[in-house]
Amino acid sequence: DTPQLWSGRFTEPVSERVKRYTASIGFDYRLAEFDIQGSLAHAAMLAHQRIIGAGDLAAIQRGMTEILAEIHAGQFQWSLDLEDVHLNIEKALTAKIGDAGKRLHTGRSRNDQVATDIRLYLRHNIDGLLGLIRQAQSALLDVAETNADVVMPGFTHLQVAQPVSFGHHLMAYFEMFKRDAERLADCRKRVNRLPLGAAALAGTSYPIDRAMVARELGFDGVCENSLDAVSDRDFAIEFSACASLIMTHLSRLSEELILWMNPRFGFIDLADRFCTGSSIMPQKKNPDVPELIRGKTGRVNGHLVALLTLMKGQPLAYNKDNQEDKEPLFDTVDTLIDTLAIVAEMLPGIRVKPEAMRAAALQGFATATDLADYLVKKGLPFRDAHEAVALAVRHAEAKGRDLAELSLAELRQFSPLVEADIYAVLSLEGSMNSRNHIGGTAPAQVRAAIARGRGALTGA
Ligand code: ARG
Repeated sequence: DTPQLWSGRFTEPVSERVKRYTASIGFDYRLAEFDIQGSLAHAAMLAHQRIIGAGDLAAIQRGMTEILAEIHAGQFQWSLDLEDVHLNIEKALTAKIGDAGKRLHTGRSRNDQVATDIRLYLRHNIDGLLGLIRQAQSALLDVAETNADVVMPGFTHLQVAQPVSFGHHLMAYFEMFKRDAERLADCRKRVNRLPLGAAALAGTSYPIDRAMVARELGFDGVCENSLDAVSDRDFAIEFSACASLIMTHLSRLSEELILWMNPRFGFIDLADRFCTGSSIMPQKKNPDVPELIRGKTGRVNGHLVALLTLMKGQPLAYNKDNQEDKEPLFDTVDTLIDTLAIVAEMLPGIRVKPEAMRAAALQGFATATDLADYLVKKGLPFRDAHEAVALAVRHAEAKGRDLAELSLAELRQFSPLVEADIYAVLSLEGSMNSRNHIGGTAPAQVRAAIARGRGALTGA
């Protein structure tokens, strides 16, 4: 057994069970790279401030370079006895370089160290996720562009409401992802503050230069209260909330893909490589990928609740409870990366079936509002127009026909204002094209939205 770095105060070692229970090395080894990055910046500052010698710094840099190489090569031996990533690396450093390694922790605590590591980890992953969101958005733009003129029934209450462009429908998700990216970028501002220098909770008596460490590590500034710096994980909770919203949007999209693939809809088909079969039913092609996206949204939402609950009862400052922040956070990041990447791959593989969409749009009196608006434009008050059209719909439904299939004479029974030009209004394209303002479903507007979207993605 390796004695703990802090074991001097104790008369007996912790039991095996307690060791296993309190150790975090099983998961926080993933912070190693960020831990070393933080240690190097801290050591450079200590040397600059003459708290340690230039020779110490050189030795620390050399030792850390070796350790990093060993970790990358999968040769580094992580030890449960050493509890966590911080103590594992520090011990290995000291084994390599002796006393200089023991000087590294001067003016620092694992409390500000771990808070720094998580922030570096999150910042790195936020940047990666922003790129993945852009990829998914770009895939959406492509599918939306190809389908700007394709008419589908728009739904409210999952009942046919009004005809919309399929491209317009997809662009709704583009907007959601745009806000998701904005939220992540905003969250990054609060992630990107340096806790180091807070030490255990009160700061340190050494003449440290926190601004220098912040610059070195690319932070926008320092956490301005030492107690807050080591104890709050609100930045992680905020990230987790952003992640939940992203997954929620992806889950809604998935639910629609699943629905549209059902033969009753038959609006789309997913490429085979995103579906799986059944071990008993030979005919099956199941949309497993979107189903799993919907399912994994549950676990990401669960992590958000776990983090909120972890924080809510903690008195200032650091408590070991915070060690529990890592697994939910890591799993959230992993799930989000995989999900966004798979969505970006899946979208171009969607086969759209415009005939089925058109047939469905022709089925639920989707242009009834257009008929009412037509009457209003001829001078009828909207409420009276609504009533007249409702009666016309009842009539058409009883006859088993669409509004556009009623004769002019039949339509005129409900309002004498109806004239022959009504049939253009009652067509799916007529309805869709008439909603020609920013945010509307007219294909011209959809194309304009796509162009704006492309501009935003390429920074034009
Ligand atoms: N593994 C710990 C964590 O994740 C590191 C900080 C431990 N600090 C302490 N005083 N025990 O939070």
